[in-house]
Amino acid sequence: GTAQIGVTGLAVMGRNLARNFARNGYTVALHNRTAARTRELVESFGDEGAFVPTESAEDFVAALERPRRLVIMVKAGAPTDAVIEEFAPLLEPGDQIIDGGNAHFEDTRRRERELRERGIHFVGVGVSGGEEGALHGPSIMPGGSPESYDTLGPMLEKIAARAADGTPCTTHIGPDGAGHFVKMVHNGIEYADMQLIAEAYHLLRSVAGYTPGKIAETFRDWNRGRLDSYLIEITAEVLAHTDPETGKPFVDVVADRAEQKGTGRWTVQIALDLGVPVSGIAEAVFARSLSGHADLRESSHTLPGPVPQPLGEEDAARFAAQVEQALYASKIVSYTQGFHQIRAGGAAYGWDIDPGAVAAVWRAGCIIRAAFLDRIRTAFDTRPDLPSLLSDKQFAEEIGAAQDDWRAVVATSARQGVPTPGFATALAYYDALRAPRLPAALTQAQRDFFGAHTYRRTDREGSFHTLWGGDRSEVSAG
Ligand code: 6PG
Repeated sequence: GTAQIGVTGLAVMGRNLARNFARNGYTVALHNRTAARTRELVESFGDEGAFVPTESAEDFVAALERPRRLVIMVKAGAPTDAVIEEFAPLLEPGDQIIDGGNAHFEDTRRRERELRERGIHFVGVGVSGGEEGALHGPSIMPGGSPESYDTLGPMLEKIAARAADGTPCTTHIGPDGAGHFVKMVHNGIEYADMQLIAEAYHLLRSVAGYTPGKIAETFRDWNRGRLDSYLIEITAEVLAHTDPETGKPFVDVVADRAEQKGTGRWTVQIALDLGVPVSGIAEAVFARSLSGHADLRESSHTLPGPVPQPLGEEDAARFAAQVEQALYASKIVSYTQGFHQIRAGGAAYGWDIDPGAVAAVWRAGCIIRAAFLDRIRTAFDTRPDLPSLLSDKQFAEEIGAAQDDWRAVVATSARQGVPTPGFATALAYYDALRAPRLPAALTQAQRDFFGAHTYRRTDREGSFHTLWGGDRSEVSAG
């Protein structure tokens, strides 16, 4: 074979990834379950580079130079297993199967283990950036063996997005499922970012009394500052858009029920297992879920509560500036929590993930790309043992400076009856971390009362139990 890489699964992500490889000078073998799609790709984009269209699994494998690199771009779950089962028997030791879908990292770990026994490298690769990213340069998070990265890495570096300093947005994240794990957390953070932006919008609309057009302007303005990011940029675009059919703001004709394909939910499920408080991501998942409960919402519209009273022009402008502070502070908390999960995952699964390198890879190409990520990279690179992003001097100072406005925004939301679970939970997290004492002491005492679950003391070592049903004396529990 002559193709340096092959792509099977030519739906939009696979097609664009294949084109990206070809545009960068690689010969790309193509395969799809229905051959019409393969032919279509070559007809429409054949002049972009060297493609080798194939119609059978055997021809596809034969078209690849050895060791073979075969990218599968199919739906996560059973379809991915089916494609692996189709191709693995045709491969030889040293070949690579590269899964560029949004696979669950536990599946990736299992597949990697099974294929390793057959001498095949299974490389789970997180790819972010949607269709455009896949074509023009995504952020790429490869897991798998270090050996696989030796040959695959340089190719990924070619097709990846580039940060402002020219560095390709990809790096070997760690073995087996590390890449898909980090992509999962990326998506969790994506959910949190989107929720915080939605809350800012809701407040500017209901409390500041701004029109969607005015909010678009406000976001464009924010996008020139420290919130500079892709998600803020597209939010402004969406809000400035008018529905061609009705002439109404587009955002007003979209049904207010947010869906999800599951990666945010996975992030929270895994965080619960790892014992990591990713409350911002969890609230974002719950907010989408709540929005989808049409019946529950319908039956609750008559519940009493305040109706937001829009502010006058000057107060509105002042409030908008406070919302920017609340959004920024909450965003710092989301990333603090996300990076905590990456560190915890790395420890639990035996990956040696470099948080600064992850931040670097997220600087361009992916959905959460933002100026902010370069600063996170600097924070972790300066102090690789940084216990938390909030331990970084600069972030701590910024959040400290934002907190008065942040508190005011959360208080106003509560008073005016505008739900801001993301802002509120981020603030609660911040205050819980600051607190010298938490009421967890009381929780432990209650547990000891009803279940003899024991407690530790502040003044000496050991575990203790109080005889609550007896004379209330204390016994040592080891
Ligand atoms: C990306 C996106 C991408 C996809 C999400 C959407 O990084 O390019 O995250 O992976 O758009 O899966 O997720 P939901 O459908 O769950 O919102």
